[in-house]
Amino acid sequence: MNKENWLKKGYVDEPVGEGIDLKKEIRNLCKEKNAVILGHFYQADEIQEIADFIGDSLALAQWAAKTPAEIIVMCGVHFMGETAKILCPDKKVLIPDMNAGCSLADSCPADAFARFVAAHPGYKVISYVNTSAAVKAVTDVVVTSTNARQIVESFPKDQKLIFGPDKNLGSYINAITGRNMLLWDGACHVHEKFSVSNILELKKQYPEAQVLVHPECKGAVAELADKVASTAGLLKFAMESDKKDFIVATESGILYEMNKKCPGKRFIPAPPEDSSHSCNECNFMRLNTLEKLYNTLKFEWPEVKVEPSVAEKAVKPIERMLEISSKLGL
Ligand code: 13P
Ligand code: SF4
Repeated sequence: MNKENWLKKGYVDEPVGEGIDLKKEIRNLCKEKNAVILGHFYQADEIQEIADFIGDSLALAQWAAKTPAEIIVMCGVHFMGETAKILCPDKKVLIPDMNAGCSLADSCPADAFARFVAAHPGYKVISYVNTSAAVKAVTDVVVTSTNARQIVESFPKDQKLIFGPDKNLGSYINAITGRNMLLWDGACHVHEKFSVSNILELKKQYPEAQVLVHPECKGAVAELADKVASTAGLLKFAMESDKKDFIVATESGILYEMNKKCPGKRFIPAPPEDSSHSCNECNFMRLNTLEKLYNTLKFEWPEVKVEPSVAEKAVKPIERMLEISSKLGL
């Protein structure tokens, strides 16, 4: 056991043993330690297969808030682990690889965002959940792509609003609500890579296909959509649609659950702009592997920690989001 090496790498770098049935051992460790595995729709298939629960960012926060388990293993990215820890300060929250960050969260450094907020007195601050705990600490209410529209609309029409950090989601919400929120100039490097030309090319091959687009994509891509929604929203739309083919412009991990929930339908992942055939994957989400998940449960490391003084402020806008969502039945 070389803890110095773990610290350097950001995950437990220990051999898992020849011939071990990882899935079985992971389930055994969960039982033994009263641990629950929460996984995002963008995780690799084998992680989605083994997770106790998979969902979008809102559902992961809701599950974290209500689980009776003593340990939460968050198979997603760091801000999801932070959100769980903020909601459950007395639980141990583990993530398989500390390097699983988020380019969108990184596009909004907390000190610069705090200065931006301070420069706009009288504005209420709405932050996407893809932010650090320190950004949430200067936020009035957190949103995800599932509830952003309704939460924005819960403010009076004349209330001045700041929305950060995703400018694409922010412009989309401005467009559908008629608001004029001040936007932080941030974006996700995965969703920005979808291109109009690649989707139009796919439409030629699959003329009947409906186009499903995540609102983190650029506006020109969203304009091609039959449905713009969060991962959970796109999944629901595909399940309820009477069409058979779907071109999917979000991280391709969502195809696992789409295929599972919609037998007989065809899901075609839209490729990134620099390739006409490959899937568009989030390199951060894909850092989590079964080996790292097993080791994280076995050694209970790496653990997500949030400075208590920051957590104390960040919990309020997250709880506000959960309250509003529950009132709206989301
Ligand atoms: P949702 O699953 O909430 O739609 O979020 C997408 C995302 O990019 C998570 O990082
Ligand atoms: Fe962040 Fe984009 Fe990856 Fe989602 S897909 S975790 S927004 S980098």
